[in-house]
Amino acid sequence: MLVLIRDDYETMSREAARRVATVVRRKPNCVLGFATGSTPLGLYRELIRMHREEGLDFSKVTTFNLDEYVGLPPEHDQSYHYFMWENLFSHINVDRRFVHIPHGMAEDVEGFCAWYERRIAEAGGIDVQILGIGANGHIAFNEPSSSLGSRTRIKPLAGTTREANARFFASPDEVPTHAITMGVGTIMEARKLLLLASGDAKADAIARTVEGPISAMVPASIVQLHRDAVVLLDSAAAAGLTLHYPE
Ligand code: PGA
Repeated sequence: MLVLIRDDYETMSREAARRVATVVRRKPNCVLGFATGSTPLGLYRELIRMHREEGLDFSKVTTFNLDEYVGLPPEHDQSYHYFMWENLFSHINVDRRFVHIPHGMAEDVEGFCAWYERRIAEAGGIDVQILGIGANGHIAFNEPSSSLGSRTRIKPLAGTTREANARFFASPDEVPTHAITMGVGTIMEARKLLLLASGDAKADAIARTVEGPISAMVPASIVQLHRDAVVLLDSAAAAGLTLHYPE
């Protein structure tokens, strides 16, 4: 696990984009795993800039998103479909046929989840998976106590996650109670992981992820077992770490 600490959010985001762009340039038909939330927004802005100014080409890239709220149609402005098109996909030359985001309105959820897993395998697996982290240590919507071997499935959201996300909805009651999420086991099969965290609200979760024991109570801590994981932080998110991590 490589822990990289940058001074601020902007520098962290540029470093993340540089790493994603390197994969896209080396393998134009790569498979990228995307995440939603506030944290990757700076990375997405930088990828858009690289596409516009440097010609970074996404036309052959296949994408898989980590998760989606159950019960929100793709056109709902808080769905992760909407988020991805609004904040990234509409601004780059990604081919919509190669975009995969879990379907929050799937009637046969179990069948959908099995299909999603199959699609990832058929695409050759994910080359680089971008991850945020919850203040409770979740990755995607794998909340504390999620099986570290889990696959794509439906999961209830933790109360603290619903509270954290209530800011985006008109009222706390409107926050969905469940999500379809890639499992921890699914995520761990990506060839590279790029976990981003910014701000002091994440410092405790990062300290437990990087320096604590591997535990289902901190699902992100499983990255310690990954062969090619980069944990990319700004200095506020790194504030709880006790070891020295060289540049
Ligand atoms: P955030 O969410 O990037 O909005 O902090 C991350 C997460 O909950 O996984």
